[in-house]
Amino acid sequence: MMKSALQSSQNVADQDVFIACEDNLSFTKRLADNSMKLIVTSPPYNMAKAYEKKISLQYYIQCQKKIIAQCVRLLHPTGSLCWQLGNHVSKGEVFPLDMVLYPLFKDYGLKLRNRIIWHFGHGLHCTNRLSGRHETILWFTKSDKYTFNLDSVRVPSKYPNKKHFKGPNKGKLSGNPKGKNPSDVWEIPNVKSNHCEKTIHPCQFPVELVERLVLAMTDTGDRVFDPFVGVGSSIIAAIKHHRIGYGCDTEKQYIEIAKERIGQFKKGNLKLRPMGKVIYDPALPGGGQ
Ligand SMILES: C[S@@+](CC[C@H](N)C(=O)[O-])C[C@H]1O[C@@H](n2cnc3c(N)ncnc32)[C@H](O)[C@@H]1O
Repeated sequence: MMKSALQSSQNVADQDVFIACEDNLSFTKRLADNSMKLIVTSPPYNMAKAYEKKISLQYYIQCQKKIIAQCVRLLHPTGSLCWQLGNHVSKGEVFPLDMVLYPLFKDYGLKLRNRIIWHFGHGLHCTNRLSGRHETILWFTKSDKYTFNLDSVRVPSKYPNKKHFKGPNKGKLSGNPKGKNPSDVWEIPNVKSNHCEKTIHPCQFPVELVERLVLAMTDTGDRVFDPFVGVGSSIIAAIKHHRIGYGCDTEKQYIEIAKERIGQFKKGNLKLRPMGKVIYDPALPGGGQ
């Protein structure tokens, strides 16, 4: 059943979640060419986190190349691939992984649409360089014809009632009444200890980060795949918006938590930070909330 659903590239499966504790190169073998509308992930950064062994940067790039090749094969012709990346740091030297990996995606013929800056407020305080407070998402497409639902991710305009003050449109609203383009700089809190989505995973996605990508780059019923799925945040973002989620992770404990979270979500019991919720600001009364 799972195998046929995984191999089908046409039919919407009757289940909406396919998740396994499995190495991604093995999991992807069972997925059909061109079957995924969105591939969104955050791979390990080769930083000796609990779920990885530190290896040479050259070997890390080779490993990434193998799974990227599979993802390009799986990507639908009008689909998007979003690789969320931070820094690899070795002996105090910083290697921005988006710069390191960009040539691999180009070698496979993908086209960059945006390099989204994800800005967040919390993290380690550095003493020998500035503290890192952003990571990036490289958004690639396979072709020039790709799904982009801007209206579904518009954010409130700063001055919604602003009108043209001269010319033929004088007196008419100057902005889009549906809101403005969210831009390529996203302010979304990262999942640290007081975040309502926090699990034992040291580096989980905030669900709202993936939600924006799902809404913009897929339609209802499309397939979304995360090859490094961790505790299932991408799957939750997908099924929340009636897409089908696929994911794998090599760590059994993360997959167990992912299944638990998906179950809670389906029962309506999973706490999620709502998309677009105002960010806590200690300078404002009540944190501005
Ligand atoms: C940065 S974390 C991703 C976390 C995820 N975005 C979430 O919200 O939970 C990277 C994940 O990749 C997993 N991983 C590492 N190598 C893998 C492989 N070869 N196949 C599948 N998963 C792998 C790790 O166990 C880890 O959970």
